[in-house]
Amino acid sequence: MTNAAYFKVTEKTIADLIDMLGQSGVTADREKRAAYSIDETIPRFEREYVADAVCFPENTEQVSMVMKYANEHLIPVTPRGAGTGLSGGAVPSRGGIVMSMERMNAILEIDHANRTLTTEPGAVTAEVTKAAREHGMFYAGDPCSGDISFIGGNVAENAGGNKVIKYGATGAHVLGLEAVLPDGSVVMFGGKRRKDVTSYDFIHLIVGSEGTLGIVTKIILNLIPYPKCVTDLLVPMPSVEAAVKLVPLITTEGGVIPSSVEFMDRKSIRNVEDYTSLRIPHSDAAAFLIIQMDGMDRRQLWSDAERIGDLCVRNGAVEVFVAEDRNARDRVWRIRKLVAEEEWTNAMPILSKEDIVVPVSEISKFLDRLPEILARHRAICNAYGHIADGNIHITVFPDGIGEDENLHELAHPMRRELYAFVKELGGTLSGEHGVGLKRKQYTDIFLNEAQIELMKRVKAAFDPNNILNPDKLVP
Ligand code: MLT
Ligand code: ZN
Repeated sequence: MTNAAYFKVTEKTIADLIDMLGQSGVTADREKRAAYSIDETIPRFEREYVADAVCFPENTEQVSMVMKYANEHLIPVTPRGAGTGLSGGAVPSRGGIVMSMERMNAILEIDHANRTLTTEPGAVTAEVTKAAREHGMFYAGDPCSGDISFIGGNVAENAGGNKVIKYGATGAHVLGLEAVLPDGSVVMFGGKRRKDVTSYDFIHLIVGSEGTLGIVTKIILNLIPYPKCVTDLLVPMPSVEAAVKLVPLITTEGGVIPSSVEFMDRKSIRNVEDYTSLRIPHSDAAAFLIIQMDGMDRRQLWSDAERIGDLCVRNGAVEVFVAEDRNARDRVWRIRKLVAEEEWTNAMPILSKEDIVVPVSEISKFLDRLPEILARHRAICNAYGHIADGNIHITVFPDGIGEDENLHELAHPMRRELYAFVKELGGTLSGEHGVGLKRKQYTDIFLNEAQIELMKRVKAAFDPNNILNPDKLVP
């Protein structure tokens, strides 16, 4: 979907925005505009996109005023959370206005009777979790970037992370959303209720729509009782195949729905060791699993952990490390979090960072064939991620590619071949990082013409002028 008729942001536009938001609510400073125009996509986009203005609304009314104005003046608007996205969802590919939600960061209410938390979109995810915890309740969303991401960004991307297997992705926790539509009108979808078939399920259309349909200004989240006891098992496995085979057995034989099952291959573990002073026991094992269980009853959890530990050993585990207290558990998760952190800080060139999903039964086939596919494109990779969801992150590195070759051009045919294989396995393009700007050109591999047409019609119904986050998600 294109719109050639955008208007440029002029001095008059900036003055009009200042009228709406006040002097401190708008900036046209070059450095600030550049800083608010990037996210954490690796590698960065081939060219730099910079917004013409950044605005900082403080309430729904201001969001509405800016959207109405932008719609009337045909100026593109890109909503932005904390900028932790991994697919360019918050990158203003057409310039125009970036709308930062950082000032709308209040956690508005915790309602015990209804077990809900109502928040503005700019609240940091970890603050939402903490606020719920202080009231003895649990917000179960747990994206890896949760210490800095905004809850509104999690909603926009339907962020997944580490606890999806038991608790679901962000959308599973959303009961209600207030949103400003591209023409400035304000709508409330859902509310403090757990049933509603009065209309289409707009909540879950907005969740994961990458800010292309509306700007979320208020979120009502479902809370559950805080699980008092948590245990993590760190399990080195002799082969990737044995690790993958174990995953469904945790539930089918072990009788437990774990709160997390995370995977790291040997190369991921080695990268962490090379990068830090950390020494990980059995780091020569082919694969590592982190299996987390939580519950209310310590004895029950001990017995579950013992049973799952035995199951791991019977299925070839090299060893089972049990982490019960907070420090031990933090050490286990530090290893997992360092895998992604290392990629950020290490200067190694990265060809592509992928977020594919395949059915759990196909993971071994996928990982087996991967080296052969990548070799054809002179690349190698490490693999890690949310194995119980079938969501494997692979970070692809150039191998034998000359310094003068264009990595972006080389990544393209590699991705197409990789995705065709993922599709063949019944998988999909992205599980949690999003389509954004980065993957839009590949959605045709996974969606048929009728689906693409439907997406375009939905987008046009919400945003006929295509001013809200153009170039993202919708082919
Ligand atoms: C992860 O699972 O570590 C993240 O989704 C990937 C990342 O932040 O790079
Ligand atoms: Zn992830």
